[in-house]
Amino acid sequence: MNDDASCAANASKSHDGVTTDVARARWTLLRQVLRKKQVDNPEVKQASVRRFATFNLFERTRPVSHDSVDTSEEHWVEYTSVFFPQYSAFLRDNLGPPRINEVLNSFDNTGNVCVWPSEETMAHYCLQNSHLFTGNVCELGGGMTCLGGLMVAVCADVKEVLLSDGNEKCIHNVRGIVERNMQAGKFGSTHVSTRVLRWDCDPDISALEAHFDVVMCADCLFFDQYRSSLVDAIRRLLQPNGVAFVFAPLRGDTLQMFSQLAQQAGLLVARHQQYDVQVWDVHQKMLQEGKEAYDENIHYPLLLTLKKGSQAQ
Ligand SMILES: C[S@@+](CC[C@H](N)C(=O)[O-])C[C@H]1O[C@@H](n2cnc3c(N)ncnc32)[C@H](O)[C@@H]1O
Repeated sequence: MNDDASCAANASKSHDGVTTDVARARWTLLRQVLRKKQVDNPEVKQASVRRFATFNLFERTRPVSHDSVDTSEEHWVEYTSVFFPQYSAFLRDNLGPPRINEVLNSFDNTGNVCVWPSEETMAHYCLQNSHLFTGNVCELGGGMTCLGGLMVAVCADVKEVLLSDGNEKCIHNVRGIVERNMQAGKFGSTHVSTRVLRWDCDPDISALEAHFDVVMCADCLFFDQYRSSLVDAIRRLLQPNGVAFVFAPLRGDTLQMFSQLAQQAGLLVARHQQYDVQVWDVHQKMLQEGKEAYDENIHYPLLLTLKKGSQAQ
């Protein structure tokens, strides 16, 4: 399955890998969004994984435009870290509802919906732990913003950051984001690049074999058909002493299945539940308040660190 045809194959549309009912309700939701209808159906509401949207780790503000007729600024927001306000980046994080041809014809679109909580959490973790990021860094499956990789480029003393995803629309948006932040001088001397990179596309991976000190990704473990490709891509992209930071909620047994595959591939896997004070505080608060919107299984990102078996524990 490594030829071009397989690279173009569609990814699973389901985002939590649970029941057919949920998948059916999601499709109803998607149909309604596409038709721009009011979403009133309780079953559909229940199926939306956007019930809990953010850990509130970044403040979103509209950049100030000095030109009163410049409407291009409307699409941009500045993400400023709440806990590290010296760090911010300009983003376009709302691409509007997907067009019908995009949903039907393009590769997986889950990265064009929003910045998912795992990506937000990973971006915050990068700011909190910038010392862990060195040399060449790659984000896989970064969606339409690659917020985590962007924050590494903004805060860490690294040589190169590659922002990637398998979806062309995501990467088109990320290209614009990189340009805008480069112009604003956000990256210092770090070289930031973008590319469409498919985990299941051998040429994509072999071109970058063993190139990275750090590989990172968020909320990418639920694709049944790409899980083992993702493990393989991480293993091959990492240099022998490299480390991968993988953030994802449990989503049924999908995180567990990924861990097992990674171990079988010879990677040393460590699972961290309480990796950040601020994220943990929000998590505890949501549980204590019994917020119906918050479902730990799909909203609380765990952190997996992956290292090559050659490294001491
Ligand atoms: C749920 S989204 C997560 C996006 C982003 N990390 C976030 O959390 O906001 C999953 C991402 O994985 C990407 N993806 C899925 N299968 C892929 C594959 N085989 N190769 C590369 N990217 C893939 C999708 O395009 C999508 O952007």
